[in-house]
Amino acid sequence: MTLSESAAAPVNEVVLEAAGLTKHFPVRKRLRDFFSRTPAVVHAVDDVSFALRRGQVTALVGESGSGKSTVARLLAQLYPRTAGDIRLHGRSTRVRGGRAFRAYVRRVQLILQDPFASLNPVHTVRYHLTRSLRIHGNAGRTAEDLDRALADLLTRVRLTPPERFLDVFPHELSGGQRQRVAIARALGADPEVLLADEPVSMLDVSIRLGVLNLLQDLKERLNLAILYITHDIASARYFADETIVMYAGRMVEGGDSETVTQNPAHPYTRLLTESAPDPERITGDGAGIDEAAGKDRGQGEPPSLISPPAGCRFHPRCPHAMRRCTAELPPRLTVGDRPGHWTACWLYDPATVAADAPGSAAPDADPAVPPPPALVEREDTATLGEAR
Ligand SMILES: Nc1ncnc2c1ncn2[C@@H]1O[C@H](COP(=O)(O)OP(=O)(O)OP(=O)(O)O)[C@@H](O)[C@H]1O
Ligand code: SF4
Ligand SMILES: [Mg+2]
Repeated sequence: MTLSESAAAPVNEVVLEAAGLTKHFPVRKRLRDFFSRTPAVVHAVDDVSFALRRGQVTALVGESGSGKSTVARLLAQLYPRTAGDIRLHGRSTRVRGGRAFRAYVRRVQLILQDPFASLNPVHTVRYHLTRSLRIHGNAGRTAEDLDRALADLLTRVRLTPPERFLDVFPHELSGGQRQRVAIARALGADPEVLLADEPVSMLDVSIRLGVLNLLQDLKERLNLAILYITHDIASARYFADETIVMYAGRMVEGGDSETVTQNPAHPYTRLLTESAPDPERITGDGAGIDEAAGKDRGQGEPPSLISPPAGCRFHPRCPHAMRRCTAELPPRLTVGDRPGHWTACWLYDPATVAADAPGSAAPDADPAVPPPPALVEREDTATLGEAR
């Protein structure tokens, strides 16, 4: 599909889907593992399902090690998956190199966190962009076609006038300009999906907003589906249409960004949003989640992913944990009456809510833990929208 065709395609059309996506990395064997029936693995991603839609940004939020980059790399087909499916326009895809891989990356492009590492220091901007245009068959036939395509790419990422940037090396650019070149290179493929893995976390605070605004603009003008991976739930509210929260390899909450960030349901998401009430955090250092998780009412660290906790993986840290949380994996449960808002937490199971009603016995509730959070709207109004 060409650029003009994708821009004309209907907004909200599902482009790329993860269905029950699972990735377990093998762990190097120790002697005792040779006698074990089940080989040790890192449960990096378990049963992750979501859809990326045209003209929409979906944020994937979580603390370090929660599996965000692994999801992006699975969707980019850089890792083979352990289980689950990846569907491009509804068709199951599994590509390992060769032509099929090239055809796939033409549609699905990955942007990495560190633009300096992702650009070759010995080559100019012209080289990087020309290579992308040529590999993906978008360089045209003549030298004039190529010059026009190069100028177009640089103008699209607002590096103007283009001739000022074409023959410079990565080290001659600022971090923000380098990330814009990396985005331009991805656009050289004329993709439908951008997988942006923490695209601003390594940039100076003063230029983060500019790069996010650029991605927002590209989303609208090119009708792109964007996966925005971040530690910073505040920036998800500002930038993303939908937000998904991951904890220890599993999705724990999802819904439209406004709802998830303003009325979080899952105790872990509440913890994240409580730590990020300041609208100015979009220009902060993005480390809030990990700091907040550390201060989690003294409840400790993320679990080992080699032997993750049974039941809800958050239960060792959750102030609302009940007995069933330690044994049964909570399914996705609808929250309140907001369409599409769900969470994987037993507190939202109607049976739990009924058991918690006045006058009823709650046989498996631990009396030592606080009551479940009320299912009501939060009043606080941190407005990142104002930062636009
Ligand atoms: N190639 C690999 N081999 C073994 N384990 C891996 C590999 N890649 C990632 N992991 C493990 O999988 C888990 C998820 O890692 P991942 O990089 O996806 O997390 P993340 O959410 O992107 O973290 P961060 O925010 O720090 O980038 C971690 O425990 C990590 O150590
Ligand atoms: S209440 Fe139970 S299911 Fe919900 S987050 Fe806490 S431990 Fe998990
Ligand atoms: Mg990562």
